[in-house]
Amino acid sequence: MPENLYENLFEVKNLIKYFKTGKGIVHAVDGVSFTIKPGKTLGIVGESGCGKSTTGRCIIRLIEPTSGEIIYKGRDICKISKAEMTKARKEIQIIFQDPYSSLNPRKTVSQIISEPLLHNRIIDRGDKDKLESRILELMETVGLAERLFNSYPHELDGGRRQRIGIARAISMQPDFIVCDEPVSALDVSIQAQILNLLKRLQTELGLTFIFITHNLSVVNYFADDIAVMYLGQVVEKAPAEELFDNPLHPYTKALLSAILVPETGKKRNRVMLHGEPSSPIDPPAGCRFSKRCNFHVSALCVPRDPPLVEISQNHYVACHCIERQ
Ligand SMILES: Nc1ncnc2c1ncn2[C@@H]1O[C@H](COP(=O)(O)OP(=O)(O)O)[C@@H](O)[C@H]1O
Ligand SMILES: [Mg+2]
Repeated sequence: MPENLYENLFEVKNLIKYFKTGKGIVHAVDGVSFTIKPGKTLGIVGESGCGKSTTGRCIIRLIEPTSGEIIYKGRDICKISKAEMTKARKEIQIIFQDPYSSLNPRKTVSQIISEPLLHNRIIDRGDKDKLESRILELMETVGLAERLFNSYPHELDGGRRQRIGIARAISMQPDFIVCDEPVSALDVSIQAQILNLLKRLQTELGLTFIFITHNLSVVNYFADDIAVMYLGQVVEKAPAEELFDNPLHPYTKALLSAILVPETGKKRNRVMLHGEPSSPIDPPAGCRFSKRCNFHVSALCVPRDPPLVEISQNHYVACHCIERQ
């Protein structure tokens, strides 16, 4: 079935991922739901440790979710057969934050790019000409010069290493890519180049993205919709422009106040966040942000988890104080 028959490429419902540790159960992802339309980008933002990577890894089943539904092209990929999952794995790829640690230092650029092609039997190992021309084609697509064919990752800068990671991901002709902080480890001067490359590939190849970042300035450039996560939960979700123009959750307001407003180049009135996020281990019931909240903390905030409520069209927020206004 062609995918434009699906309104949503992904539909994630009540995703939960708990890690059992010696200290208790880490609620890394605790009831996250969202949808992504074909060709669009969902940005996932929030401080380090809030569950962004775990969400991204669960939805492509790089790690197994504890529970929840992950509907991809109309089918729950937690319930499909092994053979169907193998096929889906080619269509859904990931680009990691640190291109260096995810690349084998003993292999050359061409060997690294060839791995998924050979492993998935897209090209036969014996068909050297076809393999070489496909590798060169991929290198050109991601802006890697032909002379780097036999170079090793340590000979290249971070931007070029990330281009190798991107070449590997697109070599499977995927429909969907989780970009997990793809520019966070790169020099600022190189970040824009990689972002432009991803954006161009999205248009040319009709890709759908989840774009994970702790940096709201980056996601503003990239995302159609944004989900803000705090301690394993989505606290606000809206189209990117709406979220930037009209942030409602006190956590989103604080995050946005730390970055420059694109039009004016100035910062908004700074909202300081007090304290550290609480522990994700066995969190008590109630709003997880309440201890750091600048809003009046009401009797409602603590005993009951605030539900994610649609406040205006496509703008959702999880805050008892806003819900009651
Ligand atoms: N394999 C694991 N075992 C135990 N805890 C984990 C594991 N992976 C992640 N966590 C914990 O889950 C939480 C969310 O982590 P992560 O998804 O990596 O956050 P982010 O990507 O937003 O920085 C953190 O508290 C982290 O320490
Ligand atoms: Mg992460």
